[in-house]
Amino acid sequence: MELRRWNEPEPCCDPEWEAAYERFETPPQEHEKFLARLRRLGADRWPRDLEVVDIFCGRGGGLMAWESLGFTRLEGVDLSESLLSRYRGPAQLYVGDCRRMAFADESRDVICVQGGLHHLSLLPDDLDAVVGEVRRVLRPNGRFVVVEPWLTPFLRTVHELCKQSLARRASSRIEALDCMIRREERTYFQWLARPGEIRAALSRGFDTSREAVAWGKFYWVGTKRPQA
Ligand SMILES: C[S@@+](CC[C@H](N)C(=O)[O-])C[C@H]1O[C@@H](n2cnc3c(N)ncnc32)[C@H](O)[C@@H]1O
Repeated sequence: MELRRWNEPEPCCDPEWEAAYERFETPPQEHEKFLARLRRLGADRWPRDLEVVDIFCGRGGGLMAWESLGFTRLEGVDLSESLLSRYRGPAQLYVGDCRRMAFADESRDVICVQGGLHHLSLLPDDLDAVVGEVRRVLRPNGRFVVVEPWLTPFLRTVHELCKQSLARRASSRIEALDCMIRREERTYFQWLARPGEIRAALSRGFDTSREAVAWGKFYWVGTKRPQA
């Protein structure tokens, strides 16, 4: 499918981060991970004709999981044209900034982000911009699905392991994760340090319909609240 551009493409994302991401898990492992997350959030029980947008979609692993669950009306948005160009599937893709989306008001049913919000530079401003855009684009009662890193005891342990050279040598996943974290250090730790502000930003305009924190991840589904 033709790639549409809302923005000038950004230069390729950090090649070192990309290489570490490739080492971290195989495509089948990544696919299972995305599918398990969507099932955990109950998406496998939603009507399959919903219009779903995966934002910060990268090379489209999340879109493939939605497709595997039987959803067919799929779109993806990411700043990186090089990552988008690696997706193979039926979704319509857009090169664009998720802080300013070119979708019409109240035109989509589900907007999903997995591992994208912690890349935002400015908190809370950029997060407020994305949440405001998601709210604008969703239909009444539309759902916002979020899966992002969260500072649990498990994640603290993983961070400690990443610092140990023996652990990095013993496990290629620990080594790859350490590399990814170092490459995105500023935005990653900024995100992990502000759980209260993040929850507050999400709950402005959305009612929480599901929330869980497990294994270093925050899983959340919000339903668009009707305007007061
Ligand atoms: C860690 S990757 C996650 C990709 C995908 N969701 C996944 O889990 O495989 C973060 C993505 O966010 C994109 N990104 C960062 N800031 C963005 C923005 N303001 N608008 C759109 N995409 C953005 C990057 O290009 C990158 O593909």
